[in-house]
Formats: sequence, structure tokens, C-alpha cells
Amino acid sequence: MNKQEFFRRRKQLMEMMDPGSVAILPAAPMRIRNRDVEYQYRQDSDFYYLTGFSEHDAVTVMIPGREHGEYILFCREHDPEKALWNGPHAGQEGAVAHFGADDSFPIDDIDDILPGMLEGKDRVYYTMGNHPDFDQRLIGWVNRLRKQARAGVHTPGEFVALDHLLHELRLFKSPEELRAMRKAARISAKAHCRAMKKCKPGLREYQIEAELLYSFMQQGARFTAYSSIVGGGANGCILHYIDNQDVLQDGDLLLIDAGAELEHYASDITRTFPVNGRFSKEQRALYEIVLEAQLAAIEAVRPGNHWNDPHNAAVRVITAGLKSVGLLKGSVDKLIKSEAYKPFYMHRTGHWLGMDVHDVGDYKIDDEWRLLEPGMVLTVEPGIYIGASMSKVASKWHNIGIRIEDDVLVTKEGHEVLSAGVPKAVDEIEALMAGKAKA
Ligand code: GLY
Ligand code: MN
Ligand code: MN
Repeated sequence: MNKQEFFRRRKQLMEMMDPGSVAILPAAPMRIRNRDVEYQYRQDSDFYYLTGFSEHDAVTVMIPGREHGEYILFCREHDPEKALWNGPHAGQEGAVAHFGADDSFPIDDIDDILPGMLEGKDRVYYTMGNHPDFDQRLIGWVNRLRKQARAGVHTPGEFVALDHLLHELRLFKSPEELRAMRKAARISAKAHCRAMKKCKPGLREYQIEAELLYSFMQQGARFTAYSSIVGGGANGCILHYIDNQDVLQDGDLLLIDAGAELEHYASDITRTFPVNGRFSKEQRALYEIVLEAQLAAIEAVRPGNHWNDPHNAAVRVITAGLKSVGLLKGSVDKLIKSEAYKPFYMHRTGHWLGMDVHDVGDYKIDDEWRLLEPGMVLTVEPGIYIGASMSKVASKWHNIGIRIEDDVLVTKEGHEVLSAGVPKAVDEIEALMAGKAKA
């Protein structure tokens, strides 16, 4: 992502802020996995969106109209000793030279410097609750200023949620963001194709996970956007299954929900296919329903439709499909009204997608589903899940868990499926797994 992109975002945010205000945003903290071992660091998406800065121990402050510079970055001082152990970090010079900061101070001096930046301001844009330790520090700085009220110090009287402004910006993807998202989706699609080709009975689920990770990294995506779900048979009916430990069985389906993260942008793809390369009659019957539901939902992604239209389309097809195979009985309208499909399809049809896999942005405005607009990206991911615990359902349907998920951009004309590079039609999947098709 180029520097202008971050500059443009900060400018947009500062234009939305009221006069006499300041915005404060801390970087994500480093987290400990276990004694002396840290989790791989991932910057907070809001912070990265505005700064492009991926170090921890940093705070950005934006003060529209400040004479000495509007964009301030507190970060670690350059320290040759530490650089020897952990590699170099930007320091104050780097923050200005490479990250476009107008002004940069050592993070260790923030207690002395930041309260002065609040002085004389009316309003602070800050998101409470994300970083409880930092919340306390900020309240401490404001209280310190309040104590000086008699000396004529003007303290901000109002705290306003920063994420409200920021998340509305993040919801609409720029051409640069879409470039990264298209690439992330392409990489993931290719990895899913590899997983289909490598799958066979007797492998452990994590061996297929390894194929996905290998493919992501070989293609330049170092991280996943979320923990991969690789669930065979009954495990495909567990929505958040990430154990990925079991042996894949001949005759079962395999559900893979996995996506690469590229340049801090997520992809999120699910495919379901037979471990042995051939769908059984029951698997195929349910799969065709989910696929029809997914295609109908994707068709409903277009400007002017509202957020819930794709979900409604999917629910209708799934309900009618479950009726057609005898798993539901009655009128489709009544079955939808009574939510009779819910034991089979219990989740929603999608979510916003962006820097976070479950990305930010309101789904309703004034209590009404919001309209889809060009530049928004969402997933479309209906499913049918029949665990063995559904004792009223004939056992031939048991342990079939199916979800099909694609990443879809709303365009002026309708939509663009970003993750189209991995097949989802039954014959295409079977051909790919049989080595008869290239992907
Ligand atoms: N992979 C998370 C989701 O599909 O929502
Ligand atoms: Mn997913
Ligand atoms: Mn998803």
C-alpha cells in the first residue's frame, strides 16, 4: 500500500472531525503466548488503516489544524542494543521519513507530552473498551488536566467514539484496497484448489491444513486471516471447528474454511468436497441446494438491495430444497416464517470483509438494514449442517456439513466475485480431484 493511501485516509478522517478536537489511537499490544514466547504480532486494523505502521508500543494522535503538524506518532526510540536482538524499528526519524508523521516522540515520553496536546481541546475521539490499560491512562491524563482547571487550563469535556467515523471509512474499499483483496482472494482460491487435489482418505485434517499454509506462503501471503477450519465428516457440522486433528474417512465430506491475509487484508473462502473425490447421492443432493442458495444470494448482491436481501434469498432456496428432499414438510412461506430451516442452517449468510475477516461497518442504519453500495465487500456463505445429534433426521443424512463461501464486491452494475478462482460446481470439483481439470 503506498504512502498516499494512508495520507488520504488521515485527511478524510480529519475532515470528518469537529474543530477543536483530537483523535487518539493506540497500537495493538504485544501478547504473550507462554513464558518468554510472544504471539506473532498483528497490528490493530484501525491503527494500521491510518498509519501503515506495524510496530507495537505506538500511539497515534491526530490534531487537525495543529501548527507543528497534524499527524503525530509516538513510538519506540531507535535503540542499537535492542535492534541487535529484535531487528531495527523505525524510531522518531523513521516515523517521519517513512511513515509520513509530521512529528514523532518517544513512546516513553507520552505521559509528559500527550496531556499538553489535550489542553484547550473540546473533544477527544477515542474508542473506549478496546484497550482497557490505555483507557485508564487516558482518563488519568484528562484528570490531571482537570485538576489544573483553576489555573485556567481548558480540559476536553467530551469523549466521542472514534470507531464510528473510522469504520464508515473502512467499509468502502478504495482501488488500492481492492487490489490487495483481489490478490488475497486469488491466493486463497489457488490454495483451496491445491487442497482438493491433495485430499485423500487416511490423511489427517491438519495435513490438508499444511497444504493450504504451504500454498499461501509460496504465493507471498505469510499469514492466514483466521484459524483455518478443516473438518471432515461430523467435524464439518461444527461451525468453529479448528482442532483439525482427525483422520479423513472415505465416504465423508471435507469442509475447508480458510483464507490468506495479504497486506493486512483478509480473504475468506469455504469449499466442501468429498474426501474420496466423488459425492454420494445424499451429499450431492444437499450440496446442490447449498450451491443454488449461494448463487441466488450472490445474485442479490447489487446496489439498491439491502444487507439482508442475500440472506433472504439463501433462506428461501435452502428451505425449498430441504422440502424437496423431504427434510421439511409444509408450505415454504410458512416454513420460512416459523424458521423451520434453522436446525439445518443456523448462521447468517455473510459479513463485511476487509482488514478484519469479520470487518467493521454498520449493518443497520436507524434500525433498518442498510443498502448495499459500490465499494463494499461482503462474504456470501450459506450452508446446511446435519450432525448425528439430529435424531429425528434419517441417519443417511447424518454428518453432512456443507458450506460454500465466496468474497463478493458490490459494483456499480451488480457484483464481482473476488474468489471465483476455485470451482464449486459438483462436476468441476470431481474433475479437479480426479486430475482431469486444471485450476
Ligand atoms: N471464516 C470465518 C467466517 O466464515 O465467518
Ligand atoms: Mn469463512
Ligand atoms: Mn466468512
